Amino acid sequence: MPAFFPVTLSSLKADTIIGCDIYLLVSDNGRSNHVLYCKGDTAFENEKRELLVRKNINRLFVSNEDQKKYSEYLEANLQHILSDEKIQPEEKAKIVYSTATTMLHDVFQEPVHKNIVRSQTFAYNMIDYILRDGRAAYNLLKITSHDYYTYTHSVNVATIGSLFARNIGLNEKDMKSFCTGMLLHDLGKTRISPSILNKKGQLTEEEFEKIKMHPEMGANILRESGSGFKDEYIVILQHHENCDGSGYPYGLKKEETHYIARLVHIIDIYDALTTRRSYSPPQKPFDSLKLMKNEMSNFVDQAMLKSFIKFLGGHRG
Ligand SMILES: [Fe+2]
Repeated sequence: MPAFFPVTLSSLKADTIIGCDIYLLVSDNGRSNHVLYCKGDTAFENEKRELLVRKNINRLFVSNEDQKKYSEYLEANLQHILSDEKIQPEEKAKIVYSTATTMLHDVFQEPVHKNIVRSQTFAYNMIDYILRDGRAAYNLLKITSHDYYTYTHSVNVATIGSLFARNIGLNEKDMKSFCTGMLLHDLGKTRISPSILNKKGQLTEEEFEKIKMHPEMGANILRESGSGFKDEYIVILQHHENCDGSGYPYGLKKEETHYIARLVHIIDIYDALTTRRSYSPPQKPFDSLKLMKNEMSNFVDQAMLKSFIKFLGGHRG
């Protein structure tokens, strides 16, 4: 028997082809059954939608097997969903987060032009949402994942990084480019063996040399994909440079790095510390920030870290 997950009616646009079957949960003589309401390959007509609105039904169901198809539908209609006043802010944040995670999963599996462009389109929609909706920050920060995977980490960095970037006054154009860069900052890791990336013990010197190649590998993947990016590269190339010149790949000092790369460096470390890893439990935000302030003072931009602590304090209380 197939399992189902709930979706809200408000996420489904009238007269679109959803791409997956939509079910209603119907109770009959004390038994509940999922009954097909609209087939995935036919249009979800306005009359069908209005009928549910009139009956006050907002919870519909999709088979677990169709999770990816539903996510693709959300991604294709993201702009519409995020500007719809009827959709609750918490739901919008969930949709942003799950769409980004599925999209980045595809990008990391297959980093080709088509998927890389998806990350750019997504970044543009997310920044529009952040700039237009005052409740976006609170709701997005609330749902960032505490389990670490390369793609959930990338979504967290792009989410927290974009909100912080707005907080320090970045303009819309830069926010859009840098958000794409943040989503793709670890793309080069797709060319490093998972046995090195997920190793629990200490890395050998040779293994660490491989890890250090991921910023340049990421930039190469972007170039090879022919995506025509410009500003996005700076985030990918410089997010592991330390202010004292001890970082990689180029050993650049603070003055030689772009401020957005220093911003991503902070968020990257913060998210890695506060999420659950295969080799360590998540640390509390306060402890992570204290550690960054006291033990990484030569690595991170201290003035920016101070602003970041203030920014998080304003949102997390
Ligand atoms: Fe990285």
